[in-house]
Amino acid sequence: MDLGIEGRVAVITGGARGIGFAEAEALGAEGAVIAINDIDSVAAMDAAAILRARGIQASAFPADAADEAEVAEAMRKIAEKFGKIAILVNNAGVGVKPDYSAYEMPAEVWDSMQRAHVRSTFLWSRAAIPLMRLGGYGRIVNTSSMNYTGGGRPGATHYVAAKASIAGFTRALAKEMGPDGITVNAIAPGYVATELIDGFSSPMLAVIREQNPTRRLCEPNEIGALVAYLASRQAGFINGEIVCIDGGRREFYWGNTA
Ligand SMILES: NC(=O)c1ccc[n+]([C@@H]2O[C@H](COP(=O)([O-])OP(=O)(O)OC[C@H]3O[C@@H](n4cnc5c(N)ncnc54)[C@H](O)[C@@H]3O)[C@@H](O)[C@H]2O)c1
Repeated sequence: MDLGIEGRVAVITGGARGIGFAEAEALGAEGAVIAINDIDSVAAMDAAAILRARGIQASAFPADAADEAEVAEAMRKIAEKFGKIAILVNNAGVGVKPDYSAYEMPAEVWDSMQRAHVRSTFLWSRAAIPLMRLGGYGRIVNTSSMNYTGGGRPGATHYVAAKASIAGFTRALAKEMGPDGITVNAIAPGYVATELIDGFSSPMLAVIREQNPTRRLCEPNEIGALVAYLASRQAGFINGEIVCIDGGRREFYWGNTA
């Protein structure tokens, strides 16, 4: 199926590794022109080079995705290079390290979680929309998590709140942007095999696999395929949707195995 995104510019935040890189690979394989943002500038440049070696047009735009001035500067460079953009994948984020009960959590830990996920999603969306309007085509794909509805696990209230906030933002922005031909959706992954969950102990991962109906973790390229579809011409009537990709798990709680 031709997804209709060949030659369209796709910006992926946090795209240097993990899920974001897999999304860049999937979009690039469909002919999209890839702009990789990441706070890790070396990794962002390496990732773009890997894609270019495969014949994909890719460049790096390092920036802290949650810093207003850095996002504005990165988007200025993207606009200068490409003129317009069509696809924005708000993927940048950080994991829960360490866990904190809400009643013990320093406010700075709370704030920095909201900043990395929610503020970055808002800032990049705000910057991208004028450049999408120019091209008359827009697909924003945000990154929530399966636990945004189920409450996740103890120790991660700040992460769960950030992902629920992204789900709410997605639905609200979808209503604003629909008339402009710009769709706004979010993915809600279960556990994906990336560095983000590297800190989990082996027993914890074994329980996670066992509790999952598919008995395994999600592979990043499975997320990439979903995002490529949501970015496609064919997905134009999917708007304001939070798409779960969790192997059928929906909730997670691993009891006292940690
Ligand atoms: N791995 C999972 O199980 C899982 C599940 C659900 C949702 N998610 C979400 O998917 C997204 C990607 O996760 P991942 O597993 O690929 O993580 P990862 O740690 O492998 O990659 C995250 C990338 O984001 C970058 N990043 C972090 N903060 C940034 C910032 N402020 N500005 C720019 N770049 C920044 C990192 O440098 C890194 O390259 C995150 O939003 C995460 O919450 C992951």
